[in-house]
Amino acid sequence: MGELMVVRQKDLAGLAKNVAEFAKNHQPKNRAFLLFLDGELGGGKTTFTKHLAKAFGIAQKVLSPTFVLIHEYDIERSGYAKMIHVDAYRLESKTDFKSLRLGDYLTAKQNIIVIEWASRMARWLPKSDLAIRFTHKSSQERILEFSRLLNAGKKISKK
Ligand SMILES: Nc1ncnc2c1ncn2[C@@H]1O[C@H](COP(=O)(O)OP(=O)(O)OP(=O)(O)O)[C@@H](O)[C@H]1O
Ligand SMILES: [Mg+2]
Repeated sequence: MGELMVVRQKDLAGLAKNVAEFAKNHQPKNRAFLLFLDGELGGGKTTFTKHLAKAFGIAQKVLSPTFVLIHEYDIERSGYAKMIHVDAYRLESKTDFKSLRLGDYLTAKQNIIVIEWASRMARWLPKSDLAIRFTHKSSQERILEFSRLLNAGKKISKK
């Protein structure tokens, strides 16, 4: 079971930290961590990915991978070594999918692979470790639907 959140721009940095923490705590042993981002056009997938890069301490500027469908960033202080950012919006066929050559990225355990419009290629991918669906609530707010509870199992201090 997942959870729903209403999120504004100012909430994104904190939320990205939580997601980075979740990825660190759920790092797969023999393969990459897969984060699927789906939902409405302009829902905030790229913006969220930029905040996630910051949360992982990535110094490089995160570009929108719309024309080049895939970008790779180095992570320095984490159990992860690279963030791979993929945009499947323009993906039209299995041939397109194959030309991305995700295979090596998927088997490298120190990768976190973030895929915008993941549902367009999900049939050729393993199950995600976390999926987020972005929809508009208003011009200033988005609804994010998480496939998993981010803080599941964590005790919340009642001080
Ligand atoms: N949580 C948020 N609250 C309010 N506005 C947001 C939020 N996230 C993103 N935005 C704004 O929404 C617009 C679209 O964001 P973004 O490009 O990240 O969406 P996207 O889902 O990547 O779009 P696309 O479907 O084209 O890939 C930007 O102007 C961005 O600043
Ligand atoms: Mg985008």
